[in-house]
Amino acid sequence: MDSILWREESDRYTQRALKAANGDVDRLFAHHRDLARQGREVMDALGFTPTRVLDLGCGYGGGVQAFAEQYPDAEFEGVDPGAESIATARRLVSHQRARFTVGFGHDLPQADESFDLVLLVMVLQWVPRAYLARTIAQAERVLRVGGMILLWDFAPFQMVMSQSRHNDQVYIFKNDYKEMFTALPWLRLVHHYVKRMEMGPGYQFSSSFIKKCPIEQIYALTPGPTEN
Ligand SMILES: C[S@@+](CC[C@H](N)C(=O)[O-])C[C@H]1O[C@@H](n2cnc3c(N)ncnc32)[C@H](O)[C@@H]1O
Repeated sequence: MDSILWREESDRYTQRALKAANGDVDRLFAHHRDLARQGREVMDALGFTPTRVLDLGCGYGGGVQAFAEQYPDAEFEGVDPGAESIATARRLVSHQRARFTVGFGHDLPQADESFDLVLLVMVLQWVPRAYLARTIAQAERVLRVGGMILLWDFAPFQMVMSQSRHNDQVYIFKNDYKEMFTALPWLRLVHHYVKRMEMGPGYQFSSSFIKKCPIEQIYALTPGPTEN
């Protein structure tokens, strides 16, 4: 699958959003502000306050802007393949401690355990299948123990692969992505809810809060070698 197409499609997503908002930045960020308010409510209840946040597949920066309003003391990084999306994020996001870079989720340069919150907002359905496991592995790698992944995605009634309605060369894959994270036993689903989407009947939206636990809590420590 062609990465050029990825970049173009990212920028088209941003162009469509800008056009729909018609210059109204509050309208552009409205959906993300809803998500951030919901996210904050759940994280407060879990006693969790993020300090370093990565928005993986950040698009035009809506997630960064909205979460920065909830957590003004936190530092933010956004990564996305779309150069125009990243330029838009740099222009529109008002938070001082936010950095945006062009890049891919499967190939993050960030250090191990360098974030305590990783946002994935409607991203994984775009990722070509050959890169999906690597993208999930990278999100896990850069997250510190005790940190959280917030996964917002479709919650389809069955796994589906469909041509994008915006570009017939792009396929969108919907499945239950939280299961791929929690297949790693140190990643625990600590909160989850599903809501109907405004896009129409048949669309459901899944919110998953996944916590990275210490491996000492997960594996039984034995006094000596028991098997190999
Ligand atoms: C539906 S948009 C959502 C953008 C943003 N998260 C938001 O909520 O506005 C999907 C985004 O995923 C990005 N994306 C797709 N494949 C990616 C990859 N391999 N690594 C990082 N981002 C990717 C796209 O460029 C696009 O900006």
